[in-house]
Amino acid sequence: MTTDRRGEIVDLRSDTVTHPTPAMRKAMYEAELGDDVFGDDPTVNALEERAAELLGKEAALFVASGTMGNLVSQLGHLGRGQETMAGATTHIVSDEQAGHAVVVGTSIKQMAERPDATWDLAELNDAFRDPRDLHEPISGLVAIENTHAHSMGRPLPLEYVRKVAEIAHAHGVPLHVDGARFFNAAVALGLKPRELAQPADSVMFCLSKGLACPIGSLVVGPRDFVARARRGRKLVGGGMRQVGILAAPGLLALRDGPAGMIERLAEDHTNARRLAEGLAALDGVESPGGLAQPTPGPLDPGRAVTNFVIFRVRRNRAEFLDALRGRGILMIEYSHDTIRAVTHYGVDATDIERVLAACAAALRETSPAATGAVPQAATT
Ligand SMILES: Cc1ncc(COP(=O)(O)O)c(C=O)c1O
Repeated sequence: MTTDRRGEIVDLRSDTVTHPTPAMRKAMYEAELGDDVFGDDPTVNALEERAAELLGKEAALFVASGTMGNLVSQLGHLGRGQETMAGATTHIVSDEQAGHAVVVGTSIKQMAERPDATWDLAELNDAFRDPRDLHEPISGLVAIENTHAHSMGRPLPLEYVRKVAEIAHAHGVPLHVDGARFFNAAVALGLKPRELAQPADSVMFCLSKGLACPIGSLVVGPRDFVARARRGRKLVGGGMRQVGILAAPGLLALRDGPAGMIERLAEDHTNARRLAEGLAALDGVESPGGLAQPTPGPLDPGRAVTNFVIFRVRRNRAEFLDALRGRGILMIEYSHDTIRAVTHYGVDATDIERVLAACAAALRETSPAATGAVPQAATT
């Protein structure tokens, strides 16, 4: 697919800012349509079949967003009063308005995360509730995030995911993967998507991030689970009608090889690594601390293994970001005084060099951070 360049702004705030390719727009225009709540939309049906095939699962469901995908997955797996084990910094825990409590009627047991985004597996084993104890909620789901945003987009390795699944299954509980950036993980690990998905019972992945589609996510898993998730989607108002218009770009994105958008994610990873290397060489850039890079001192470019770069500046952060904005470069404030830059479709190697030059200039013209304003060892 050709690159869609959009003027002089290099927008690294997120991979959600990507615009659809010209081929996607054409496919949207030409998409065959039907009423998807009746199961009549051939383009949605084709997308769901392709998603299930690609991840090696029985069935799939097209939903409006990653948040909705995680929510209906929880509705598909859990009953009221049950509990999910999920990483403390993950999207399900912190960024979905407690949908698990508000809509699903469940609690979350937050698991401590290590800088490589994994959990201590003995702690996981101990986190399961005693089903004989009348006081406790019932453990009903384990949910992991792959890639894991707050650890600088680290991919969780297959061997680790297998072990988590084994423990969950030994307790009779399914494993859900919040794979908003699942294909970034698969590409970074050199695995086929179905290999990385194999240990999980369900996976949610987003079309609207690095795959450059304008909207949409998919939930994949066993047929009966997907049927329950489909009911959940209707409950939350996500039953859409001639939605093949939105599914059509997804079908292109999920094609194999250079015709699709998965393989090219490797380019985003290379660009993120180059960005991290260039930033690390600049006076005034340092370790973000916390899960993104636990060691204080210089930024370690080796932490950038997918499309996220998280760093800290020994400057007033807001002024620094304003100075970048003035040069047409957008980055975003992230947790614990850090800054996040995300590479994606539409940003190329030349842009990265421009970004680095802008960062050098912005650092020179920005005032130092007030003493004590920059904590060194944030934990998340
Ligand atoms: C890890 C993760 N999960 C879920 C989501 C939710 O996706 P959406 O914004 O489509 O609701 C995001 C969004 O950035 C995310 O980063």
